Amino acid sequence: MAFSFQEGCPIDAFDLGAMLDKQLRPYRTIMPTLTQLPAAGRPRAEILADVTRLHDLEAERWKAGYSSGAVYHGADGHIETLNQVYALHSQSNPLHTDLWPSALKFEAEIIAMTAHMLHGAPGEVVGTVSSGGTESLLLAMKTYRDWARATRAIAAPEMIVPVTAHAAFWKAAQYFDIKLVPVPVDEHFRADVAAVRAAITPNTAVIVGSAPAFPHGIIDPIPELAALAQEHGIGCHVDACLGGFVLPWAERLGYPVPAFDFRLPGVTSMSADTHKYGYAAKGASVILYRGAELMHHQYFTISDWPGGLYMSPTFAGSRPGALSAACWAAMVSMGEEGYLEATRRILTAAAALKDGIRRIDGLRILGDPLWVVAFASVDDEAFNIYQVMEQMGRRGWSLNGLQRPAAVHIALTLRHTQPGVVERFVADLGAAVAEVRANPGALSGMAPVYGMAAQLPGEMVDEMLRTYLDLMFKA
Ligand SMILES: Cc1ncc(COP(=O)(O)O)c(C=O)c1O
Repeated sequence: MAFSFQEGCPIDAFDLGAMLDKQLRPYRTIMPTLTQLPAAGRPRAEILADVTRLHDLEAERWKAGYSSGAVYHGADGHIETLNQVYALHSQSNPLHTDLWPSALKFEAEIIAMTAHMLHGAPGEVVGTVSSGGTESLLLAMKTYRDWARATRAIAAPEMIVPVTAHAAFWKAAQYFDIKLVPVPVDEHFRADVAAVRAAITPNTAVIVGSAPAFPHGIIDPIPELAALAQEHGIGCHVDACLGGFVLPWAERLGYPVPAFDFRLPGVTSMSADTHKYGYAAKGASVILYRGAELMHHQYFTISDWPGGLYMSPTFAGSRPGALSAACWAAMVSMGEEGYLEATRRILTAAAALKDGIRRIDGLRILGDPLWVVAFASVDDEAFNIYQVMEQMGRRGWSLNGLQRPAAVHIALTLRHTQPGVVERFVADLGAAVAEVRANPGALSGMAPVYGMAAQLPGEMVDEMLRTYLDLMFKA
């Protein structure tokens, strides 16, 4: 297959290309690949049989809890309810408010319930539903850019972003031409408050904090960041995409959760993903603002378009009302008691998992996380943590590779609270570390790719990632 890297790439491009091809197209050998429309439509029963077969081939792994994050609830009854609700509302589009006022009811209530959970005062904290964490963050950053321009006459707004914040902030900077000012984290992987203070300029529109951040599951010092923002009259966005539906319940269960939500007066917006620990189907998140005035900078309206008076709250035009219906159903079926119990189970499993990792010689946990647990080699010279990830992959696990520093993480979900899953993870991890320590030079799969990424110029790695994206969309 065609797969080329620039000169100087220390990896065998053909081997890597072949590996990726196998990984991305496992069905080539068992099903025909379509590159044009079938001349005549296929019978529905046949189509259903095909997609059922694909589903069945994939479901076992995530159902058994072999993935980091990915599926957050996954119990059969829960999925069945969401699927039924989706099926009932599959034609719904909130753009057509007259046809589907039900979609508006679902969305308004999703927003109100989420705002209440995050201690937003009714009437003060408002929001919209988006398609996911990334869209919520893109929307928030665009909002601060336009707010800064309109209310502060800042022509070139800046956002201050801890380096552990989600990649979507860099995406927002690129899409919306906002200057991103990265700030380091301390030895506990928490945003360095002194560095944030030093980074504030007259052009700063917003300070970002995560509760928690994706890589190491660590919560930034939100009270300090929010206070700084308030002192300077600028925005403070708390990215609670990952933790928004866990931390409120963890706090109630007595875990040490620092203040992170609208109880802090300096917090001006928050994102919380219903499609993660809100247990909705994929494609739903909530973005909340303190005050409609701020949120108006998110909206798009056009009053002189020949197509009519047009307005849209988020990036999309037409939107899947069915996903909002399913999201509402997930939230209402969980209720406060359901979220509390789910959180209790996840945090209990996480405590056992952390104990298990600590008992494995040569590994260390990064920072002091609650349920998203990153681990690394105590001594990078002794063994390669990416090869451990590779060995875990061979045992069925789908984990996340991290860099700077080299590490691997697992985000625990309800899937990992099933009997025996944590024990299996710890046993497999112990065996994987032992195997890698016994063969320190052997690198396979993604391990050399991560090693290479750490050494090559960024532009070369970007080129590699673009090639990967190209591959993803080739039939
Ligand atoms: C802290 C945080 N923010 C934002 C996102 C982006 O969410 P999504 O993948 O739904 O776009 C993630 C995803 O894991 C996350 O962990």
